[in-house]
Amino acid sequence: MESPFKVDILEGKVALLTGGGSGIGFEISNQFGKHGASVAIMGRRKNVIDDAVSALQSVGIPAVGFEGDVRKREDAKRAVEETVKHFGKLDILVNAAAGNFLVSAEDLSPNGFKTVIDIDSVGTFTMCHEALKYLKKGGPGRSSSTGGFILNISATLHYTASWYQIHVSAAKAAVDALTRNLALEWGTDYDIRVNGIAPGPIEDTAGMSKLAPHEILSKARESMNLDNVGKYVNGTTLVVDGGHWLSRPRHLPKEAVKQLSRSVEKRSRDSPTGVPTSKL
Ligand code: COA
Repeated sequence: MESPFKVDILEGKVALLTGGGSGIGFEISNQFGKHGASVAIMGRRKNVIDDAVSALQSVGIPAVGFEGDVRKREDAKRAVEETVKHFGKLDILVNAAAGNFLVSAEDLSPNGFKTVIDIDSVGTFTMCHEALKYLKKGGPGRSSSTGGFILNISATLHYTASWYQIHVSAAKAAVDALTRNLALEWGTDYDIRVNGIAPGPIEDTAGMSKLAPHEILSKARESMNLDNVGKYVNGTTLVVDGGHWLSRPRHLPKEAVKQLSRSVEKRSRDSPTGVPTSKL
């Protein structure tokens, strides 16, 4: 598909993508690079990252790779810092790393649930948190007026309910909450824009091969047109108002909430519990 964007729209930008070595993350890396960006990709499997970096470099894209797991804070920190060391700054963070497998709720262990939450939700927050210093306006390599950009890859599973995807539905619902809350807090304080994309199933990705393995793909084809499904925007209203719809007056300054929250917590832990009484 031909890009609708100007070929140099990302000229001079530096992007870091988790899960950038395969699937949707790799294609975003590739498209960013084709539009002028330098890209750093992070992933758990060294051979996948190495192959992806070679593929990007072979078409002239400045690319570098880091082996790392978004569940480990030190890996997140290292990938962000190495990206800045290599390319001089960070403009865009894409959180595309995700875990998934088909499993019924009754067969899913709490640890299986937690594993996907740790990768998708906590991992996304960890990456955002480590990248904040470089993405905020006035951060290293940035102007004092413009912040960077975060893109979180989500899904549509949790808009309703999805068979055998309770863990991923919960994880992506949390990712969407991160997107909105960071857009409010970091958009207001640091001029960082935070957005999400919820792609449909994309053929030839790890996600697709796990959610619709060939054993059930023919059945899935009966209910959805897989040639079109991941590629077009449909059935949504895109809000284009700079995040105004999220804004509301800040009732407490950040420094005040830091102190207040700790003292409220202490008070609540110290207060005698007593005999519970009905509030009805
Ligand atoms: N069905 C049920 N439970 C499963 C499972 C499956 N297919 N695969 C893993 N689990 C459970 C494990 O049993 C374990 O729980 P337990 O300790 O209670 O037994 C828990 O999940 C963790 O499994 P483990 O193999 O240690 O996790 P991991 O960190 O090595 O792997 C996954 C993480 C499971 C998410 C793995 O599928 C993965 O890493 N995928 C990455 C790539 C990917 O799938 N991308 C697609 C994105 S759409």
